[in-house]
Amino acid sequence: MAEKKPDAAAKTESQGPDAKATAKPAAATKAAAKDAPAKKAGAKKAAAKKAAKPKGPARKGAKDPLPPAIVPVARRGFLSWVGLGWASFAAANLVGLGLLQRFLFPNVLFEPPTRFTLGFPDEYTDGVHTKWKAGFGVWLVRTDSDMVHEKPGFFALSTTCTHLGCQPNWLAADLKFKCPCHGSGFRNSGVNFEGPAPRPLERYRIGLAEDGQIFVDKSKKFQQELGQWQDSEAFLAYG
Ligand code: FES
Repeated sequence: MAEKKPDAAAKTESQGPDAKATAKPAAATKAAAKDAPAKKAGAKKAAAKKAAKPKGPARKGAKDPLPPAIVPVARRGFLSWVGLGWASFAAANLVGLGLLQRFLFPNVLFEPPTRFTLGFPDEYTDGVHTKWKAGFGVWLVRTDSDMVHEKPGFFALSTTCTHLGCQPNWLAADLKFKCPCHGSGFRNSGVNFEGPAPRPLERYRIGLAEDGQIFVDKSKKFQQELGQWQDSEAFLAYG
């Protein structure tokens, strides 16, 4: 064995540099053939590793799909915005409808009529009748001799104090109207006699309606200080 080695080396040397070059690729091929199964196993391992890896952003700049955990949250946010939009739309419509209704049906102030009937004359005794004060702002007075017309009949007095507009009360025991605000007093005729009221109570137009009832018309007033109580419409002669 020890004698063969120098021969092989000598053989190689005798073949020259070309033979050396030819021998090298042959050795490389042999080594490659030897490593092939190992490489194959390595490639298989790498492929398996790659398949096991979670799919993520492959490279910079590529469109990344949203992580699965985020997608439902984003959808929920979108749906809540849509809901909010519809709610705002509905609220705006309601406000619009309210304004439209206000435009179509404007506020109307319902006031008592200025002309009304108070029943038949024979229903009343002499004196001041207060039952129409709350509803119509009128005292109906029946007298056997009115100081102006000097005959029996009716007149309608305003319930508004001529001082600052308060509502006096009829005090039957004292036979006077007394204002609670500043103490003005008025006779049952309406003439002022105490307190700061500067003039008598006003009277309203009075008469008999077609059906025989007493009517009062508040659209026409008569003031004593202007001599208007003498007017025939300021007094209903009866009896
Ligand atoms: Fe009647 Fe002043 S308002 S006395």
